[in-house]
Amino acid sequence: MISTSLATVAYLGATILFILCLGGLSNQETSRRGNAYGMLGMAIAVLATVFGTQVTSAGLPWILGAMAVGAVVGVYAARVVQMTQMPELVALMHSLVGLAAVLVGYANFVDPAVAAMLTPAENTIHEIEMYVGVLIGAVTFSGSLVAFGKLSGKIGGKPLLLPARHWINLVGLIVVVYFGVRFVTAHDASMATTAMIVMTVIALLFGIHMVMAIGGADMPVVVSMLNSYSGWAAAATGFMLNNDLLIVVGALVGSSGAILSYIMCTAMNRRFLAVIAGGFGSDGGAPKPAAAGGAQPAGEVTPISATETAELLKDAKSVVIVPGYGMAVAQAQHTVFEITKALRERGVNVRFAIHPVAGRMPGHMNVLLAEAKVPYDIVFEMDEINDDFPDTDVAMVIGANDIVNPAAQDDPTSPIAGMPVLEVWKAKNSIVMKRSMASGYAGVDNPLFYKENNRMLFGDAKKMLDEVLAALKA
Ligand code: TAP
Repeated sequence: MISTSLATVAYLGATILFILCLGGLSNQETSRRGNAYGMLGMAIAVLATVFGTQVTSAGLPWILGAMAVGAVVGVYAARVVQMTQMPELVALMHSLVGLAAVLVGYANFVDPAVAAMLTPAENTIHEIEMYVGVLIGAVTFSGSLVAFGKLSGKIGGKPLLLPARHWINLVGLIVVVYFGVRFVTAHDASMATTAMIVMTVIALLFGIHMVMAIGGADMPVVVSMLNSYSGWAAAATGFMLNNDLLIVVGALVGSSGAILSYIMCTAMNRRFLAVIAGGFGSDGGAPKPAAAGGAQPAGEVTPISATETAELLKDAKSVVIVPGYGMAVAQAQHTVFEITKALRERGVNVRFAIHPVAGRMPGHMNVLLAEAKVPYDIVFEMDEINDDFPDTDVAMVIGANDIVNPAAQDDPTSPIAGMPVLEVWKAKNSIVMKRSMASGYAGVDNPLFYKENNRMLFGDAKKMLDEVLAALKA
């Protein structure tokens, strides 16, 4: 067992490492180092906690046993989970943080030893910590489970818009506050238990309702928001367990998640509260008559072959590649880089355009391109490159759909109206690589496919790109 002062120093060191970790993760070049800091910080934090003064020698085998089971499950998940399943896995992990907060809250609640050690004033504070901790934890738990269902396709992506849903939420909030007051002022155990159970049920239902009401393209905001909630749930757990490190780390995750949610909202041109309270779209969530599509696009679709695509690329001076979720599904990033190299050798200026919500998690495309060793200096954010499309010969869209949908700008009735998109149709030619005419995550038809200067290269992105590469090298 280590002394309290050594544990405090270890916690301080871990906190600094977590801050360095977050700083490192904000940039691709430093993200590897950031991850290393995070892992080291977590190892120190776990060791200082497990061998700290709060753990008795009788409890140690239980903790080590639980850690062994957790490690086996974690290693197994890390090995079998595909890159495309990462967003669901993250959602599932958020739900576990929420569940932990709920369980710790109930454990504190039923343990008479905790209250016996506190003065009446401290006890009131502790009761508020428990109530708020279980509340945040339960919302995070059920909300993240629904997010997991939606991201994995087990639950449909369409928003569930109950009539009078704002009133339902408001009534739920009032009941939670009422029982919160009863919980803290309760003189008998049965009232406190009733208050705790009623609040937990309402919080679980609220989490389900909140995420069920979010549809299609607005999901990124919810994913980052649940990330933030999981941080606050961890901080609440820290208060209940009197663990400073958990409070600091929870606050770091909570606030960085909140900043990410804000960035996502700005990127999608959505108001945060409108998304959370309104569910779908920027109009406060009114269901659209053609909820799945807005106006139907008209015109002819012109297919193109892999060989013709290679010819167009060879003749181009400037090419912009727009990767989307389909590139992740097809695992085509390595071939994309091979094509990039082949074109650059021919003197073609090749750049990548990254939409902030491309794929299924923040930074999804950046991770894939970094894995394929695409140089960072040819990868551009939407704002940096969107004005360059009129001077681009070929815009090559690889498994992307919603993020290049002109309906976001042209059709005010579209569910994605107002969302900034990559304006690939302004290039001399655009080529969209996907398997069919199917819509993307938001379930919206895409008029880009019918534009005169657009060509469709139908097929699995990896297979098609292999053919394009072969034709380029022939
Ligand atoms: P999507 O709009 O989902 O479109 C992806 C397209 O890829 C699909 O239309 C699909 O068409 C195609 N595809 C799938 N598998 C393919 C394969 N093996 N080969 C070739 N094409 C394939 O993706 P996006 O443009 O990247 O936009 C992201 C969407 O997800 C946005 O609506 C965003 O709001 C949402 N979302 C994002 C996040 C984050 S945080 N990034 C989180 C949740 C939701 P086919 O079936 O015809 O091939």
